[in-house]
Amino acid sequence: MKRIILLGATGSIGTGACDVVRAHPGEFKVVALAARSNRAAAESLSRAFGARAYVGEDAALRAVEENDADVALVATVGLSGLAPALAAIEKGMSVALATKEVLVAAGALVTARAREKGVRILPVDSEHSAIFQCLQSPGRAPVERLVLTASGGPFLDAPADLSAVTPAQALRHPRWNMGPKVTVDSSTMMNKGFEMLEARWLFDVPMDRIDVVVHPESVVHSLVTFADGATLAQLSPPDMRVPIQYALSWPDRLPADRAPLDLVRLGALTFRAPDEDRFPCLRLVRAAAEAGGTRAAALSAADEVAVTRFLAGSISYTDIPRLVADAVDAAPDLPCDSLENILAADAAGRKLAEKWNS
Ligand SMILES: NC(=O)c1ccc[n+]([C@@H]2O[C@H](COP(=O)([O-])OP(=O)(O)OC[C@H]3O[C@@H](n4cnc5c(N)ncnc54)[C@H](OP(=O)(O)O)[C@@H]3O)[C@@H](O)[C@H]2O)c1
Repeated sequence: MKRIILLGATGSIGTGACDVVRAHPGEFKVVALAARSNRAAAESLSRAFGARAYVGEDAALRAVEENDADVALVATVGLSGLAPALAAIEKGMSVALATKEVLVAAGALVTARAREKGVRILPVDSEHSAIFQCLQSPGRAPVERLVLTASGGPFLDAPADLSAVTPAQALRHPRWNMGPKVTVDSSTMMNKGFEMLEARWLFDVPMDRIDVVVHPESVVHSLVTFADGATLAQLSPPDMRVPIQYALSWPDRLPADRAPLDLVRLGALTFRAPDEDRFPCLRLVRAAAEAGGTRAAALSAADEVAVTRFLAGSISYTDIPRLVADAVDAAPDLPCDSLENILAADAAGRKLAEKWNS
């Protein structure tokens, strides 16, 4: 039995993880779970799993510090996942990581600590799970390029002017049912920029060897091209329980009661280049990554605030990349080698984003 701690248990990924656990009662035991504010849902899960429930701003960290487990699933939103992820690594737990902002802001630090402690970071994001699955090889397999697929979000074929986009429109993702922050990030393609950085840290491949391809059907979850010219891909219906389950069951695969991929019914899978003029967030993340230091941490924090402000109606949709660009330019740049510097960059990015006016 693998003992699991679920951080963000009441969210979209957390709910998927609960489904996976329920479907495999002999494989997994939830020992603790955490949520921020949804006490009723957390307590109901606690009763169902016989697990300790933690609720509040520091709930995730306490759940890790006060319990022992084999795997901690980190599925909270934004930088709130960083301290619990580091605490899990310090305790020698594998980290099944959904919260991409952890690697965006603190990839160098987190991956270095995991290496030192001999701890595995198991990707939950479908794209990174796909790459991770393609990389499972018993022998040497030098990587040439990683190709991240992107659904393109709700505005892929929308008219060019996106300034009047409403929160309701941005929250209507064509393929995935996710929490609000990641759904808005998907629509701006900031999410794909974050995933490039996440891939850079998870797989130690430089940004200039990571490509993004728009694939509206969301069936090919990502691809790896190896040095011998072979490209491997992982395909499955768009259901987050597939990568969640793999992160929890790795190195094994467990059966699941899900309809398999029906290629004949799908008929065609399509691919096209992303339009970086309409979706400038990809460029913003690449530039922050190239500049190095804590720029990506400031960018991630500014984006968190920008999305909150957009959903609250205080900035427009097209203000999101403008706000983020201005905040990154104005934030102090520090070496990305300590938690203190990352938290300082995060605080600066957040403050600049809160004060920003169009
Ligand atoms: N959803 C997806 O399909 C998907 C795919 C790939 C990656 N991701 C990533 O996975 C992460 C979670 O996404 P999501 O869509 O599941 O988000 P979500 O539906 O908004 O759920 C967030 C969860 O985290 C909890 N939470 C937030 N802040 C917390 C804190 N400080 N301490 C403890 N718990 C906290 C929330 O608790 P309350 O319910 O009490 O607020 C909720 O359980 C994000 O980083 C996202 O980018 C998601």
